Amino acid sequence: MTEPERFLLLAIETTCDETGAAVLAGPKPPATGVPVVLSSVVASQIDLHGRFGGVVPEIASRAHVRQILPVVDEALKRAGVSLGDLGAVAVATRPGLVGALVVGLTAAKSLALALDIPLVAVDHLEGHLYACQLAYPDRDVYPCLGLVVSGGHTSLYACRGPLDVEALGGTTDDAAGEAFDKVASLLGLGYPGGPGVERAARDGDPKAYAFPRSYLHDDRIAFSFSGLKTAVLYALRGQDARNAGVAPPPRIVADIAASFQEAVVDALVGKTRQALQRTGLRKLGIGGGVAANARFRERMADMAGELGVELFIPPMSLCTDNAAMAGIALPKLAAGQTTPLDVDVTPGLVRPGR
Ligand code: KG4
Ligand code: ZN
Repeated sequence: MTEPERFLLLAIETTCDETGAAVLAGPKPPATGVPVVLSSVVASQIDLHGRFGGVVPEIASRAHVRQILPVVDEALKRAGVSLGDLGAVAVATRPGLVGALVVGLTAAKSLALALDIPLVAVDHLEGHLYACQLAYPDRDVYPCLGLVVSGGHTSLYACRGPLDVEALGGTTDDAAGEAFDKVASLLGLGYPGGPGVERAARDGDPKAYAFPRSYLHDDRIAFSFSGLKTAVLYALRGQDARNAGVAPPPRIVADIAASFQEAVVDALVGKTRQALQRTGLRKLGIGGGVAANARFRERMADMAGELGVELFIPPMSLCTDNAAMAGIALPKLAAGQTTPLDVDVTPGLVRPGR
């Protein structure tokens, strides 16, 4: 049998505060197969947003404008390919910050038009889940239960295949990563909050504070983290607003961080367990920045082991925002799905019914 011809895809990611470009090589569509990531470049904007304690959309858009072309150039250079070698260009067009999305889409459209190659719009959240397949090319990740836990999203999906994804439920307010960021800000642990909270939690007692685990004793596939954030605020300051701005002792910070982290992990693991049992799916794929958390990974692995479910969590570089995950464009191309050049961005997330 002859090998299918090699096909090169340029992928672009600008949904939030990371400017990403990647080059992937896969079999030429309509042949199918998991692509290989030849390069993946991410220009982080953490330094620009840190002092505001969160992403400032206008600053993000302007930084994408400055960084997009150098990042694309660097991805091509690291992959050892030139623009003329590309077979298609993929870009995440939803969900995300409108101004940020527009920068990536405009760059992708311009390249597709100038090079006369197909444009493929992809969904950032489906991309987070496809990152599992990129990370485990020799195993079939699908059909699986998909969990995206990031700064903007906390959602569960029944994934029959990379392009056949049904939303089962998600957060009714804050995302899990957003809760880490807000609690880190309350505790003075910097931005983004996840790594700081995780570090502080190592010296703390996870049972010191009985924080809420919303929806856990309820059969709805739903998460809520805003009450947890408020509970942390009260634990920290009591009911007295005059305590605002007073730095708590390190022991209290560690105990609050550990108890908060345990509450988030309990909610994520508990709901994921319920969704696995309800759907009968035997594989679990997880994406998004919160999946970098060691306690989360350990507890998910224990739960999956207990249920005999196969667990897929990509390495850190494929968990947090990156362009390689837009490699989901290759199965799309194989299915004949390309995107017209007059496509627009879709910033909002359409929440599934509660
Ligand atoms: O997937 P991601 O890079 O961007 C979004 O699509 O939002 O996720 C970023 C989120 C942030 O909220 C960050 O605090 C969280 O992931 N995060 C973590 C850890 N590392 C990053 N949360 C908990 N523990 C971590 N170690
Ligand atoms: Zn993301």
